Amino acid sequence: MIPSDTYISYLAAKKSVDDRALNRYVWQKLKAGLRPSTPREPLRVIEFGAGIGTMFERVVEWGLAPHMHYTLVEQNPDYLDGFRSRSVPEQFGRSHTPHERISDKAAAVETHGSPAVETLCADLYDVIAEPGQQGQWDLIIAHAVMDLVEAAEVLAGFARLVKPGGLLYLSLIYDGCTEFLPSEDPDFEQALLCRYHLSMDRRATRHGHTGTSRAARAMFSRLAALNLPILAAGGSDWLVYPRAGRYPADEAFFLDTIIDTIDRQLQQDPAVDPDRLAAWASRKHNRVKAGELIFMARNMDFLARGPALQQQAVTPHQPI
Ligand SMILES: C[S@@+](CC[C@H](N)C(=O)[O-])C[C@H]1O[C@@H](n2cnc3c(N)ncnc32)[C@H](O)[C@@H]1O
Repeated sequence: MIPSDTYISYLAAKKSVDDRALNRYVWQKLKAGLRPSTPREPLRVIEFGAGIGTMFERVVEWGLAPHMHYTLVEQNPDYLDGFRSRSVPEQFGRSHTPHERISDKAAAVETHGSPAVETLCADLYDVIAEPGQQGQWDLIIAHAVMDLVEAAEVLAGFARLVKPGGLLYLSLIYDGCTEFLPSEDPDFEQALLCRYHLSMDRRATRHGHTGTSRAARAMFSRLAALNLPILAAGGSDWLVYPRAGRYPADEAFFLDTIIDTIDRQLQQDPAVDPDRLAAWASRKHNRVKAGELIFMARNMDFLARGPALQQQAVTPHQPI
């Protein structure tokens, strides 16, 4: 487990990497596909696995819609504290205590011309099962989350939550390809990354297996199985590289955290030689320090339309 304060710094450092990576075609389709919003009828947006709220900030900074009521769902209360201590003006913030049911909340905060925002500390599986939430949301966002959850169950839940004809924006889903350049020992590195992908494929939570190392490509069949039409899909690869020996923003920390995450995970794998692993991690950290490491990882973004009214109660087909 990464300590919360380190992970909060990692999520903050990830923001500039994600800003470059997000697929602008999919984003434009999202913006164009939203229903018009007014102060009296703001868009109702819910984001799952919101972390410290950098997607909410982006939605505001990139002007997704003028009038929104935005709910951030996150299971880790420290990350929501991290969100509150970032940029959200006090008058927009309103939180729920852990385990409070989302349907218990009072009337939404309304703010003209600005997004009203509230946070909910909860397990997303509980929220998608809430009967009071069904068909309530114009837009559901899950950013860098769909590869961490049991995708079929979560997508079926999203399909119930979204208003008829509303949108699902499922961004930054990993798709099984990571590269570090330069590579001093490419064969060993490839073998390491295969073991890392295997650990993702085997990862299970109390809700079942998570999205696997190729969660992105599986979205095509999963969305089709639920009759959720894909309006746009495209690559959102991470690419981190130095400029004149320096990384922008806090991206050196982002790289160090990625290296540590792989290292920590593979220390538990008896098939990986611990000395070679330690040497690999040390070389990569040194490359970051020297401003020489280039990092690439393949991700995809999806925009899907929720079910039409008459379809909202359908049971999913078995995904392939
Ligand atoms: C990779 S992080 C992405 C965070 C944020 N979306 C971002 O990109 O900065 C995944 C987030 O999903 C949250 N998460 C994972 N499973 C969850 C669940 N079952 N319920 C609520 N949040 C969850 C984690 O705590 C974490 O904050």
